[in-house]
Amino acid sequence: MKDAIFLQACRREPTPYRPVWLMRQAGRYMPEYRALRERVPFLTLCKSPDLAAQVTVQAVERLGVDAAIIFADILLIVEPMGVGLEFSQGDGPVIHRPVRMGTDVDQLVESQPADAVPFVFEAIRQARASLPTHIPLIGFSGAPFTIASYLIEGGSSRHYIETKRFMYHDPGAWWALMERLVRVITAYVNGQIAAGAQAVQLFDSWVGCLSPEDYRLFILPHMKILIQGITPGTPVIHFGTETAGLLELLAEAGGDVIGVDWRIDLHEAWRRIGFDRAVQGNLDPVALFAPRDELRQQVKRVLAATAGRPGHIFNLGHGILPQTPVENVIALVEMVHEMSATRVPSSK
Ligand code: CP3
Repeated sequence: MKDAIFLQACRREPTPYRPVWLMRQAGRYMPEYRALRERVPFLTLCKSPDLAAQVTVQAVERLGVDAAIIFADILLIVEPMGVGLEFSQGDGPVIHRPVRMGTDVDQLVESQPADAVPFVFEAIRQARASLPTHIPLIGFSGAPFTIASYLIEGGSSRHYIETKRFMYHDPGAWWALMERLVRVITAYVNGQIAAGAQAVQLFDSWVGCLSPEDYRLFILPHMKILIQGITPGTPVIHFGTETAGLLELLAEAGGDVIGVDWRIDLHEAWRRIGFDRAVQGNLDPVALFAPRDELRQQVKRVLAATAGRPGHIFNLGHGILPQTPVENVIALVEMVHEMSATRVPSSK
């Protein structure tokens, strides 16, 4: 397993071809997933370890990617906090009792993830048992800011007004909320590692809405503690979007691999992150709607931006969109392997 090329790339060791996996590789763009979802509501699926493991493994088999990511959701740890989580059809996640004041923070239930979300750990054990040994399994969690944004906004947001209002009005309560989330998330990802995950990704998907100075003051100290608390020896991927203004700070916060979105040239991003880290990214998810020749050009551009330096994991800059044609996703994985090969992949 240590020789799995995805893990080699996390350690910045040379690989025979570029490892690739895709955020949301198991999801609605896949007919098999949609068929299952016709029978099973999303949260039920997440809470059924056999089904979650099946969806995880199915995506790897269908795509030929170099890593699996456990099928779950960043909001699963929010439900046991007692805020009332629902995934409504079409509207995305809804939190019925959002956090709006300091006293709301005190009322959040803090339980051990092993008691609160045992199904995630069981799904990891089952997925690990069915995956081939050379395919690492990635565990994940939302990062404190991104989780807090759902807790405070009560769902998805555009301008994060309530989240920032909370942060600016009551920095003490914000600090308490971050500390609480860091404790829960640390236990959660370490539990996933103990259950069989070979790497973990922290999704700070929405942190790019912050100014560098706000990131430094309100987020960075907590991210440092979180990342330092993760079981040593397990690569940590630190991901965000719209982070072109924050890359140095994300790198300072930590992570063996920094996730980069497509709004910045990958070479420029890597230079600013520092070549002593690995990077992951950064194809525009909408490139998967382009004709094959254009897709090939875009893949070539991403590969070229790394100048053959070890420590690049190919991925999209954000998740696969539900409308994406599945055959283009399969073609993308083949292209990455073929165009980056110094030796032809033998693992499939
Ligand atoms: O990447 C994978 O294949 C693993 C599975 C995964 C899901 N969610 C499944 C999912 C992962 C890694 C996530 C992370 C996640 N969840 C993030 C961070 C990644 C990102 O996109 O930035 C966020 C912000 C969420 C919260 C969330 N979950 C939202 C906003 C939504 C609704 C929007 C949407 O796409 O429908 C979800 C639901 C969700 N999570 C789905 C899947 C496959 C779709 C649910 C369905 O089947 O209807």
